[in-house]
Amino acid sequence: MSESRTQLPEQGENWERLQERLTALGRDDVDWRNKRSAVYVFHPGEDVLDVAKQAYALYQSENALGPAAFPSLKKMEADVIGIAHGLMHGPEGATGNMTSGGTESIMLATKSCRDAAAAKGIEVHGANLVVPRTAHLAFDKAAHYLGLEIRRVDVTPAFLADPDAMRSAIDERTLMLVGSAPCFPYGLVDPIPELAEVAVEKDIWLHVDACVGGYLNPFAEMEGVALPEWDFRVEAVRTISADLHKYGYAAKGASTILHRSAEQHAYQHFSADDWPAGAMTTPTVAGTRPGGAIASAWAVLHYLGVEGYRDKTRRILDARRRITEGVEALGLRVFGDPQLALISFGPADGDPLSIFGVWKGMHDRGWFSGIVQNPDGIHMMLSPSHDEVVEMYLKDLGEAVAGARGDGSGEAVAPTRYA
Ligand SMILES: Cc1ncc(COP(=O)(O)O)c(C=O)c1O
Repeated sequence: MSESRTQLPEQGENWERLQERLTALGRDDVDWRNKRSAVYVFHPGEDVLDVAKQAYALYQSENALGPAAFPSLKKMEADVIGIAHGLMHGPEGATGNMTSGGTESIMLATKSCRDAAAAKGIEVHGANLVVPRTAHLAFDKAAHYLGLEIRRVDVTPAFLADPDAMRSAIDERTLMLVGSAPCFPYGLVDPIPELAEVAVEKDIWLHVDACVGGYLNPFAEMEGVALPEWDFRVEAVRTISADLHKYGYAAKGASTILHRSAEQHAYQHFSADDWPAGAMTTPTVAGTRPGGAIASAWAVLHYLGVEGYRDKTRRILDARRRITEGVEALGLRVFGDPQLALISFGPADGDPLSIFGVWKGMHDRGWFSGIVQNPDGIHMMLSPSHDEVVEMYLKDLGEAVAGARGDGSGEAVAPTRYA
């Protein structure tokens, strides 16, 4: 056994000591509490974080694998799904589940689609999904796990899904078409009604990935943001993935997979009984499902209500507008026309500025955000609390841009997000 491997201590330590050690372990983490991160963490304010935490702690040991043992969690999940459908215009009979995150929700939408096709006698092994290039890589993961092929299709010059190009990528083995509302790289809502026309024409399943927008778009629309219809208002939309641990502000481990009908939802389930402990039917990928994540989402939804979410959304929209103006004032280009909480920007056409040099300059100044490639840019996923730091951010951005122009500093290669 290697010397450096951590061993279980012979004797336990007290909580005070462990709390100190845990705090010390986080010393080099990104300073998200001071609103310095525009990726990974959503900061809605200390009061909301506290509600999420307290609710999580109340149900941290309960397990939604056993609804008969925990009718509390069954009721909370039903409430959350009801609220989700209320926000996303689910028709009568629409249903769904809470999951661990966007990736699981996407996996389950894809499995439902695949198994519904198989039930019709279609050979599904090696069948394909057609997605815009901007769709999240969770679709590649789902395709890989489920024995499907993924076809990524170029987007338009406005960075939106291109319905005609997607139509051309469809063949007789295509099971699913995907649009994002919005996509992660640019924060843009794909033209879901036009994708719906293609889905109807080709008789294939349309999934909307609203992992980012599910709990943001409804409030942005209430605030007057004009989005193309993106939810169950569009008849052909069969499933929607929408994350509570993003703009729902719940503790991590909470997303929703929403189905237009119970009939198609049935294909999401997995059942088996060939072992001594009896039959098991589960609606999600996980067996054990953390009660804490469900309770936290339930509590935050009820804590904020429509008014609370509208208020958070107004703050995000304001921060995004001000950052957009500041970025453009520096001669940089915003990619597409983002209306929501995400924004990506890079050098204007022909400008030799190293944007990854700027990213590094911002990183050196304590700011952490994502990147995009081809075209290269800085990516930001804004939280309500970012409205407090916009001026500071733009001042540092100006300096980082000047620094990267002055000495050509910065990395020629993109910083890696997931390593
Ligand atoms: C549009 C979109 N879909 C899916 C996902 C995957 O969600 P998760 O990381 O919760 O699995 C993300 C994550 O950022 C996303 O932005």
